Amino acid sequence: MASPSARAMAFAEVEKMSKDLDLGVLINNVGASHEMPVAFAETDPAEMEAIIQTNIFGTLQLTRAVLPAMVARSKRGPKSLVLNVGSMSGRIPSALLATYSCTKGGLQTWTKALAEEVKADDVTVLMVLPAFVVSNMSKIRKSSMFVPTPKAFVKSTLSRLGLPAGAQGRPYEMTPYWSHAIADYVVGMFGYVSEMAGIKVILSMHKDIRKRALRKKAREAGKGKGKQE
Ligand SMILES: NC(=O)c1ccc[n+]([C@@H]2O[C@H](COP(=O)([O-])OP(=O)(O)OC[C@H]3O[C@@H](n4cnc5c(N)ncnc54)[C@H](OP(=O)(O)O)[C@@H]3O)[C@@H](O)[C@H]2O)c1
Repeated sequence: MASPSARAMAFAEVEKMSKDLDLGVLINNVGASHEMPVAFAETDPAEMEAIIQTNIFGTLQLTRAVLPAMVARSKRGPKSLVLNVGSMSGRIPSALLATYSCTKGGLQTWTKALAEEVKADDVTVLMVLPAFVVSNMSKIRKSSMFVPTPKAFVKSTLSRLGLPAGAQGRPYEMTPYWSHAIADYVVGMFGYVSEMAGIKVILSMHKDIRKRALRKKAREAGKGKGKQE
């Protein structure tokens, strides 16, 4: 991982370069999560730091570096857009992914604060909240009703920019994929009761994912040992 001073220098360079660019859209898609669900007290400190550095500092520092150029551009022409990719883990506190959940929840609050700050500068800031999507991070290879392909998810997002899309009653947020929007709605439907139910469902799902991930790791370690012998 780069040192704080090397990172600061790199982002200062990005800020300098962005002044000469016609920069109208920034999509903060970067994200890192845990290798597998893990109790917070047992989380590897290096994994915790990498997640916070990537999701929080990476996103905030890059946005800080290019925002002045985006504001300047909006003054000259069409509105600019900052689209932050959050997660349902920020909406529903996700036990056994506590650090990841913390970063996505933090980004949600930051998105709204920033959105309000730059609204008058004609820069729109939004957060899109996916639940599961087929990807390397989710380790899900097959799409289903609740797990769209990246293409389907991106299409649902881009086609609803500027329109109401899930996330009922929450400013600057969208849950554009239809089945994710239903899950989001159900979690908010009965206040405390439905939110607690959501938290418990997620915990039990993560316990199950952890068990399967540990079994897979043990199988792979067994195979590796077999090859060495
Ligand atoms: N898939 C899901 O189920 C799901 C659910 C909710 C939210 N999300 C969010 O969706 C976004 C995209 O994730 P994904 O599912 O498409 O996972 P992914 O395939 O693992 O993509 C993550 C992206 O972040 C980049 N990245 C990670 N760590 C980095 C670092 N230290 N420096 C620079 N780039 C880094 C990766 O770059 P490289 O390819 O170069 O490694 C990759 O482009 C993330 O913000 C994630 O939190 C995903």
